[in-house]
Amino acid sequence: MIYAVGIGPGSREGITYEARSAIEKSDVVVGYKTYIDLIKDLVKDKEIVSNGMKQEVDRVKKAVEISKTGKMVAVISSGDAGVYGMAGLVLELAEGEEVQVVSGVTASTAAAAVLGAPLMHDFCHISLSDLLTPLNLIYKRIALASEGDFVICIYNPRSKGRPDYLKKSFEIMKKYKAGSTPVGVVKNAGRENQQVQVCTMDTIDYEFVDMLSIVIVGNSSTYIKNNKIITRRGYERKLEKDVLKNGG
Ligand SMILES: C[S@@+](CC[C@H](N)C(=O)[O-])C[C@H]1O[C@@H](n2cnc3c(N)ncnc32)[C@H](O)[C@@H]1O
Repeated sequence: MIYAVGIGPGSREGITYEARSAIEKSDVVVGYKTYIDLIKDLVKDKEIVSNGMKQEVDRVKKAVEISKTGKMVAVISSGDAGVYGMAGLVLELAEGEEVQVVSGVTASTAAAAVLGAPLMHDFCHISLSDLLTPLNLIYKRIALASEGDFVICIYNPRSKGRPDYLKKSFEIMKKYKAGSTPVGVVKNAGRENQQVQVCTMDTIDYEFVDMLSIVIVGNSSTYIKNNKIITRRGYERKLEKDVLKNGG
């Protein structure tokens, strides 16, 4: 059995009961070193196989090899294993082993809870990493999601190697979204050093954003109340209709 486990955004409280139990049942835990460090105390008595970023294929091949020896293996991802995580690769590279995907709390919903309620209506996830996706396709998705008035959750928003993709994405979004559209940035959501910025498309501080951050850009119904971001779901129209129907 190979578990593809999402460990949530980082805090002990953010791990689901199911994810914890899959890790407990495993003999070997395979993962990126930073994520293994986040769950150090849960994996004290486990065999650990960890390596660096961009070595995902090797990591999963190793997990498949180990599982052939009869050991239970957990391949861990941060957040949800099926959202820019390892679940797809584990299913693709497994050679007949049983695979169980164990979901986790993804960065967008963890950050949304910190920011208020920005994901109350249709939203999408877009990653700005062009390691595996052509940049023109990323910008096309940014444009079409903005034209469709989606709330947009931007993963992998800004790194040293690509400091300008976020700014360029905002320029594209601004063709469709007003500059006053609320934006939330959460760095290290659910971790000890969590930091939050509530701003607008016009006032965002790009320098604040890094690879440990997620950026949530509102839609045309999103507003800020008491420093919390709320996307209206449409109840206010229903309320107006009821008032009209019932004569106030
Ligand atoms: C390769 S993706 C992994 C996403 C992960 N599987 C998930 O479901 O959240 C890495 C990106 O996720 C976002 N991310 C992951 N954990 C985060 C956290 N605790 N706080 C803010 N952003 C986070 C960042 O945008 C980061 O660059």
